[in-house]
Amino acid sequence: MNKRFTLSIAKIVEETKGIKTFTFKHKLDAKPGQFIMLTDFEGGEKPFSISDCTEDEFSITVKKIGEFTARLFQKRIEDYVSIRGAYGSSFFISKNKVLLVGGGYAIPTFYFLSKILLKNKADITLINGARTKEEHIFADRFQKLNIKVINATNDGSFGEKGTVVNVAKKLIEDENFDFLYASGPEMMMKTLQKVCGEIEYEFLFERYMKCAIGICGNCTMDPLGLRLCVEGPVLPKKKIKLLTEFGKYHRDASGERIKY
Ligand SMILES: Cc1cc2nc3c(=O)[nH]c(=O)nc-3n(C[C@H](O)[C@H](O)[C@H](O)COP(=O)(O)OP(=O)(O)OC[C@H]3O[C@@H](n4cnc5c(N)ncnc54)[C@H](O)[C@@H]3O)c2cc1C
Ligand code: FES
Repeated sequence: MNKRFTLSIAKIVEETKGIKTFTFKHKLDAKPGQFIMLTDFEGGEKPFSISDCTEDEFSITVKKIGEFTARLFQKRIEDYVSIRGAYGSSFFISKNKVLLVGGGYAIPTFYFLSKILLKNKADITLINGARTKEEHIFADRFQKLNIKVINATNDGSFGEKGTVVNVAKKLIEDENFDFLYASGPEMMMKTLQKVCGEIEYEFLFERYMKCAIGICGNCTMDPLGLRLCVEGPVLPKKKIKLLTEFGKYHRDASGERIKY
C-alpha cells in the first residue's frame, strides 16, 4: 500500500471550468471512500478521493483551489505524476435501500460507490447537488447507472431548487431508507446529520493530511484522536456522534485550529 507508483496521465476530462477528472492506466487496489496521495515532483503531495476504479484503471476528480491543484490543471495527457495508496477506511457496502447525499467535487466518490453498491443489488437514490448549473458535475455519468438520481442546485438553475439537505429532508420524511452516505462540505454534513433521525449513516470527512499513514497526527479529530487518514476518512454514525470538533473547527498545515 505504501509503494509509490509513477504513472502517466491516460485521460483528462474537463467536468466544469474548475473541475477535471484525471484517469490513470493502473491496477489500483482500492475501495469506495478511499483516497490516494499524489505528487507532481514540483513540491507538495495532496490527498484525492478515488472517483472510479476498474480492473486496469482508476480516476480522481480535482477542483482547482490553490497552488498545487492549479499546477495539476496545467498537466497534459502522458505527463507524469507519482501516487501512493489507496489509503483510509471505505464505505460500508449495503444491499438494501440507500440514500447518497453529496455535492461539488465530493460527489465523484459516489460514482465508484454506486457501481459497487449496484453489484451488491442495493436500491440507490442519489442526491447530487451544487450551487449552480455551472458547478454541477457527473449528472450524465450517474444517469447511465441503474439508480434514482435527484439533481439539485441552490439557485434552481439545474434540477430541483434548494440545498441537498432540503431535498434529503423531504425524501427521508416520505420514504424509508436503511442507510445514508454523505460526502461534501462539513457544514452540509453537520446540517444533514440533524435530519437523519434513526437512519444509520457514514460520512466522508476531510482534514489536512500530510503523511496519510497515521504518523504525523495532523488529521486527528477531537476528542477521540481519530486519525482520518487511517480510521477515516469514512466514519460511522456511532463515532461521528462523539466528535466534538465536527462542524466547529479543523486544522491547517501547522496543526492550528481554524473555526468553520
Ligand atoms: C481524504 C481527502 C480526500 C480529498 N479528495 C479530494 C478530491 O477528490 N478532489 C479534490 O479536488 N480535492 C480533494 N481533497 C482536498 C484536496 O486535497 C485539496 O483541495 C488540495 O490539497 C488543495 O491543494 P492546493 O495547493 O491546490 O490548495 P491550497 O491553497 O494549498 O489549499 C486550499 C485548501 O485545500 C485544503 N488542503 C490543502 N492541502 C491539503 C492537504 N494536504 N490535505 C487536505 N486538505 C488540504 C485546505 O482546506 C486548504 O484550505 C481531499 C482531501 C482529503 C483530506
Ligand atoms: S495525515 Fe499524518 S496522521 Fe493522518
